[in-house]
Amino acid sequence: MAASSTTSGADFVVVANRLPVDLDTQPDGERRWKRSPGGLVTALEPVLRSNDGAWVGWTGVADVDVDTFVEDGLTLHPVRLSAAEVTEYYEGFSNGTLWPLYHDVVATPEYHRHWWNSYVQVNQRFAEATAAIAAQGATVWVQDYQLQLVPKMLRELRPDLTIGFFLHIPFPPVELFMQLPWRTEIVQGLLGADLIGFHLPGGAQNFLYLSRRLAGQPASRASVGVRSRPGTVEVGDRTVRVGAFPISIDSGQLDELSRRPEVQARAAEIRAELGNPSRIILGVDRLDYTKGIDNRLHALHELLAEGRIDADETVMVQLATPSRENVGLYIKMREGIEQQVGRINGDWSKVGRPAVHYLHQPVPREELVALFVAADVMLVTPVRDGMNLVAKEYPACRGDLGGALVLSEFAGAAAELKDAYMVNPHDLDGVKDALVAALTQDPTEGRRRMRGLRRQVLTHDVDRWARSFLDSLGGVEQ
Ligand code: ADP
Ligand code: G6P
Repeated sequence: MAASSTTSGADFVVVANRLPVDLDTQPDGERRWKRSPGGLVTALEPVLRSNDGAWVGWTGVADVDVDTFVEDGLTLHPVRLSAAEVTEYYEGFSNGTLWPLYHDVVATPEYHRHWWNSYVQVNQRFAEATAAIAAQGATVWVQDYQLQLVPKMLRELRPDLTIGFFLHIPFPPVELFMQLPWRTEIVQGLLGADLIGFHLPGGAQNFLYLSRRLAGQPASRASVGVRSRPGTVEVGDRTVRVGAFPISIDSGQLDELSRRPEVQARAAEIRAELGNPSRIILGVDRLDYTKGIDNRLHALHELLAEGRIDADETVMVQLATPSRENVGLYIKMREGIEQQVGRINGDWSKVGRPAVHYLHQPVPREELVALFVAADVMLVTPVRDGMNLVAKEYPACRGDLGGALVLSEFAGAAAELKDAYMVNPHDLDGVKDALVAALTQDPTEGRRRMRGLRRQVLTHDVDRWARSFLDSLGGVEQ
């Protein structure tokens, strides 16, 4: 794709709540940029870096003005948020209303008018920032639930642009979406785009129905395919396309990284540091109540108590990246999980040999890949997840065909990763049985499953995802 930034503006612009890097202030006051958390950045960064794109987003810190800067060939355009906007737009409407509502109300969404007002105001600022830097006729790709009003606002400012929108989280069932007091405004906001993408056909179909019901626009009724047969909504003289584009990872790069001798050596070292257990179970998540970390710890605790897992032979490592730490639901969830870890370790650890290693911190990419290489069982048990990239990263790192993936059927990835040990995370006995089956799998069966997982992940990488979306958007030279 052509994506050069010129003095007359950028030809290809990504707009997301966060920039790919966060501004981090050290205890001594020194500031530096570090990689932003989450799957959106993991997926989009390689796509953008290889194409000299421009990226409009927030620095992750309130009340900070930062000028446009270039980082590794990517032009970053910071958008300022005030402390009140971080509370009301980001922690409030985005993560206290939309996030739980779109994840099947697994926590109760809150509806506050001042949160909504802030969401409108910040979306307008993102639209204006984008309008100011996009070249005539440019392609703009708006990302995720924090910016659902931007497509319409941007079209009003710049009708010359081609506008795509992609939702990285699930789009909820109609009955749940209908709770939202501002449901019609959200549907109309999205309909400002030329192409609206969801992970799964079900999300696209829900949106087509809502376009008819709430916006009163004629919408197609035929079923939507994966990367093909998008639906359509007629909005005045425009036809908006609505499709399913399951996101993925840079699987080739991870495969290569995982084969490096230093990564393989680090994997062996990790095993030794853990006391050379015969089995390592791994969980890798942002610390979020949608990820089902509590369910998997509960399953582990019961299996240890029943003697079906022996703490002398099996250890668990749980990485949990800090996330949204000022939001009440996250504070409560963290306390619950840390209590569970404490209880398991209290009951089953020995001196120098914890049953669960819990790291509330992000780890460098190479270390993460070494952990994937070391792990015998990867536990991915969200109660709802748009895709879950970790489920794809693990098989990408297993060129040795070792290991097993236990995967929730409520992750978007379950539609593609059929060779996983599939679980309903609400069914505790089912999770326990799947974990034991994965820990004790026959090696031939394990290799067969891993081969199938890798075939899917290596042939459907993030480049293919971006290309299929942008081809369908049709506004970018390839
Ligand atoms: P989400 O987008 O909801 O956070 P995903 O599983 O789709 O969930 O993406 C999470 C991304 O963050 C993955 O690329 C994963 O490897 C990375 N990640 C999660 N936890 C950690 C951690 N502790 N250290 C480093 N990377 C992490
Ligand atoms: C998910 C969302 C992203 C978000 C990321 C991290 O991947 O889809 O939009 O950026 O989580 O969350 P945060 O609130 O820290 O940006």
